Amino acid sequence: MHVVHTIAALRAALPVPGSCVFVPTMGNLHDGHLALVRQAAAHGLPVVASIFVNRLQFAPHEDFDRYPRTLARDCELLSSAGCSIVFAPDEAEMYPEPQGFKVQPDPAIADILEGHFRPGFFTGVCTVVLKLFGAVQPRIAVFGKKDYQQLMVIRRMTRQFALPIEIEGGETTRAADGLALSSRNGYLSDTERAHAIELAQALATLARQFSEGGTPLATLEARACQALAERGWQPDYLSVRRRTDLGIPADDAPRSGDWVALGAARIGATRLIDNLEFSG
Ligand code: PAF
Repeated sequence: MHVVHTIAALRAALPVPGSCVFVPTMGNLHDGHLALVRQAAAHGLPVVASIFVNRLQFAPHEDFDRYPRTLARDCELLSSAGCSIVFAPDEAEMYPEPQGFKVQPDPAIADILEGHFRPGFFTGVCTVVLKLFGAVQPRIAVFGKKDYQQLMVIRRMTRQFALPIEIEGGETTRAADGLALSSRNGYLSDTERAHAIELAQALATLARQFSEGGTPLATLEARACQALAERGWQPDYLSVRRRTDLGIPADDAPRSGDWVALGAARIGATRLIDNLEFSG
C-alpha cells in the first residue's frame, strides 16, 4: 500500500483517470470505514482512501481541533482491508490559498435536518468532496449510509455536475448492541456509551408508529424528541422523510412506501446521528 501526501504523487501512483474506487474519510477509522473499503475492493479496481480532516465543514464551536488524528494506525487498518493507496494531504496541499470557490448545494436537500442545525456543513462537505474527486478521479466512490443526508447530497451534486463517477452507498456497521459505529463514539463516557443505543431505539419506535398510521407525523416526531429528552438527551431532530428526496410526507399521503427515519441528538457533550430505512 502506498501512502501519498500530494496530488502530484497521487497522480503519479494512479495515472489513468477513472481507474480506481474511492473511499473518502477524515481518519480515526473504525470497522464501519473498513467495511466501506472492503466493499470498494470487491470491484476489483485499486482502492484509494483519503484521510483529511476538512476544516471547511466544521463550525467554529465544533470539534475540528480535537478531532483525533491517527494516521499510522489508520494506515495499518486500511492496508489490512485491501486499500491500495492512502491519500493523506495536509491543509496546505488541499487549501494552498483561501478556498474562495465553494459548492453551494441545493438548499432543498442541504438546508434541512443536518444542514439546518449545522449551517454551511454541506457547503464544506461538497467543496472538499468535489476537490477530492478532482484529485483522485475515481470511477466509483463509496459513502456510508450512516451519514444518510450526506450520501444524498453527494449523489445529487455528482448528478447535477455530470461527474463521471458512480456513487455507491455502504450499509451502516453497528456494535453488538446496535449502536452505529462513529468516530465520535470515542468521546462517550462509559455511562453515555451504555445509553447511546437509545437514539437508534427512538428511531425504530418512530418508524413503527409512523407505519401504523393514524397520528400526524409532527406529533410522533415531537413525542420521540420528548422521550429522548426525558432520558437526558438534547435532541436536534427525529424525523421521517421520503427516501427519494428527504421530503416531508404529507399527513394525508398513504404510509406505504419507502421511508427513512433520521435523528440527531446530543448525549452529554457528544452529538450522535443515526437513521433507519424502512417501508410502510
Ligand atoms: O463523511 C466524512 O467523513 C466526511 O464528511 C467526508 C466525506 C470525508 C468529507 O470530508
